Amino acid sequence: MAAVIQELDPRKCPEAIEEVVRLEKKIFPKHESLSGSFHEELRKKNCGLIYAKLGKGEGGGQEEVVGYVMYSWVSSLCASIAKLAVKENHRKHGYGEALLRAAIQKCRTRKIQRVCLHVDPTRTPAVSLYNKLGFQVDELIECYYSSDRSAYRMYLDFDD
Ligand SMILES: CC(C)(COP(=O)(O)OP(=O)(O)OC[C@H]1O[C@@H](n2cnc3c(N)ncnc32)[C@H](O)[C@@H]1OP(=O)(O)O)[C@@H](O)C(=O)NCCC(=O)NCCS
Repeated sequence: MAAVIQELDPRKCPEAIEEVVRLEKKIFPKHESLSGSFHEELRKKNCGLIYAKLGKGEGGGQEEVVGYVMYSWVSSLCASIAKLAVKENHRKHGYGEALLRAAIQKCRTRKIQRVCLHVDPTRTPAVSLYNKLGFQVDELIECYYSSDRSAYRMYLDFDD
């Protein structure tokens, strides 16, 4: 079954935020996790979250959030992808790509020239996905996440 990709309205779907927070805790190590600050971040006007939701199956299964991407406007010309994740048992179904495309599309609706992000180079699936959608490595930042974990700073420029 295909997931529905939608923008989160924190006032209308607080339960979706709770599901995202649970996923964030499960997927990312503590020092990389935004789970403690999601509510605060989403109250900011320069921040948004798009999530993928699977509907009830024919067998009457529960609706579930299977992935999310968080973005923010860093300046009038630059946006940032703060987080992207898909639930482990739902990976390789195209949801990560669909979420990232939706976030990029959202950035295109503003007069943004560049989308940037940081990613641990050892996160091969994520780096591969970012490359696939046209992101390039700007530089390697040593000790970005912790003393032994670096990050690629990556960017995607809009030509138009
Ligand atoms: C990165 C992530 C979001 C990808 O989600 P996904 O739904 O599995 O990805 P998709 O099915 O949409 O795949 C799209 C592309 O991603 C890349 N990709 C996905 N899984 C991959 C894997 N296991 N190995 C290599 N590349 C992979 C490929 O380029 C793929 O394109 P292709 O199918 O044409 O080869 C997911 O692996 C994840 O949540 N990882 C843990 C969290 C994380 O690392 N987040 C990024 C840092 S914030």
